[in-house]
Amino acid sequence: MPYLSIMKKDRNKPIVQITNHEIEQYALKMTTDESEQVKELVASSDSKLDYIDMLSGNLVGQLLKMLVKISNAKRVLEIGTFTGYSALMMAEALPEDGEIITIEMNLLYQELAEDHFAKFDTENKIHLMKGNAQELITDLNGEFDLVFLDADKVSYSFYFKQSIEKLRKGGLMIVDNVLWGGAVLHPQDEKSAALDAFNKAVAEDERVEQILLPFLDGLTVIRKK
Ligand SMILES: C[S@@+](CC[C@H](N)C(=O)[O-])C[C@H]1O[C@@H](n2cnc3c(N)ncnc32)[C@H](O)[C@@H]1O
Repeated sequence: MPYLSIMKKDRNKPIVQITNHEIEQYALKMTTDESEQVKELVASSDSKLDYIDMLSGNLVGQLLKMLVKISNAKRVLEIGTFTGYSALMMAEALPEDGEIITIEMNLLYQELAEDHFAKFDTENKIHLMKGNAQELITDLNGEFDLVFLDADKVSYSFYFKQSIEKLRKGGLMIVDNVLWGGAVLHPQDEKSAALDAFNKAVAEDERVEQILLPFLDGLTVIRKK
């Protein structure tokens, strides 16, 4: 069967070009659209900042929403708020009594996120914690159903170690940028080496099962057993 042999031959091809722009645009067209309030948050962020490329975008956003919904998550922890995009996306998927704690250390992003939450998080589900997540994460009480890691890459292993303890059994942890543009294949700098070490530690951790999706910049979905 020629098709199968092509599939087999291609299976070991290294992934370096992770996102094909045209395919990404096509995927976006075929994906549920952002709500009007999320679109307004994007426009507001864009008008106030020179770059908004840290904002995770609709493919990651819809995946987060889907995972919040199908896991029936009620309590979510996010590390790395930026201007509030992914927090607002997840808040839209939460039940009425759900809550998100999101941590941001940059003063300007805190201010923008705060404005956005006051305007768009009409049900008051999002609580912004201002400061360094490396310090604040250790003070968090109670269990979480879902954790989204999207802050400083060199601290991912630390955030994993802290938040896995706070994640309920069966809870999910979503981690963005785990392929770092393919640089984790041959790490040459601190961030790539930290991400590679993080990916390896998760792969060897008996407490979890996980899938690293070679999607956009690489996204791992981890489930605590
Ligand atoms: C990729 S952005 C987050 C994007 C956001 N989740 C979204 O989808 O729009 C990463 C954010 O983490 C913040 N950050 C980095 N290191 C941090 C730390 N140690 N504590 C708190 N926030 C941090 C950065 O200031 C930045 O706003």
